[in-house]
Amino acid sequence: MSEIRIAVFASGTGSNFRRLHEVSERGELAPGKVVLLVSDQPSCLAVSYARKAHVPVIAHTFKELGGKAAWEAHVVEKLREEGVSLIALAGYMRLVGDTLLSPYKGRMINIHPSYLPEFPGLDAVQQALDAKVPETGVTIHFVDEGLDSGPIIDQRRIQIEPTDTHETLLQKVHAVEHQLFPQVVQRVCTSC
Ligand code: GAR
Repeated sequence: MSEIRIAVFASGTGSNFRRLHEVSERGELAPGKVVLLVSDQPSCLAVSYARKAHVPVIAHTFKELGGKAAWEAHVVEKLREEGVSLIALAGYMRLVGDTLLSPYKGRMINIHPSYLPEFPGLDAVQQALDAKVPETGVTIHFVDEGLDSGPIIDQRRIQIEPTDTHETLLQKVHAVEHQLFPQVVQRVCTSC
């Protein structure tokens, strides 16, 4: 089976990117391999980690490249040059536009910190705490035009204890994400 070249998109801390990259380096995403980090936040931690780990990086603000459509067109050109066939959104906090989605529809997946369709959008961990629900979760889905919508690939439930704070619940969410995301990425690669 030929290699599936994966670009990870991240806007922040990048713990999911780090995890995917580490697993990839051990050959455990095969036939998938993380070959590129793309970011709209050039000074974020995900970019710093990628540079230290010698992962090629494309990192520009939308403003630097003349807006979102121009940014996406530039990124699509680079993805083609790098032979990327799968995109994993790992805390990429932008709605994907048509310029990027069209060429990668069905080959772009997103991780979200809730049991979708519950709590789409920003800070889903805080949304779950505010709603005082007994459980939340993690979802990985194919990306479509909507906000954290698109066909669900896999999900896990996470219990919320009355004593949980944003910090403790986020830790639980990340622990689940760091297990589930590599498994799902690997599975998607084998069916590409
Ligand atoms: C993750 O929890 C991911 O599920 C979430 O951003 C976080 C990024 O963390 N994504 C979304 O909320 C997408 N709507 P990380 O930078 O440490 O990987």
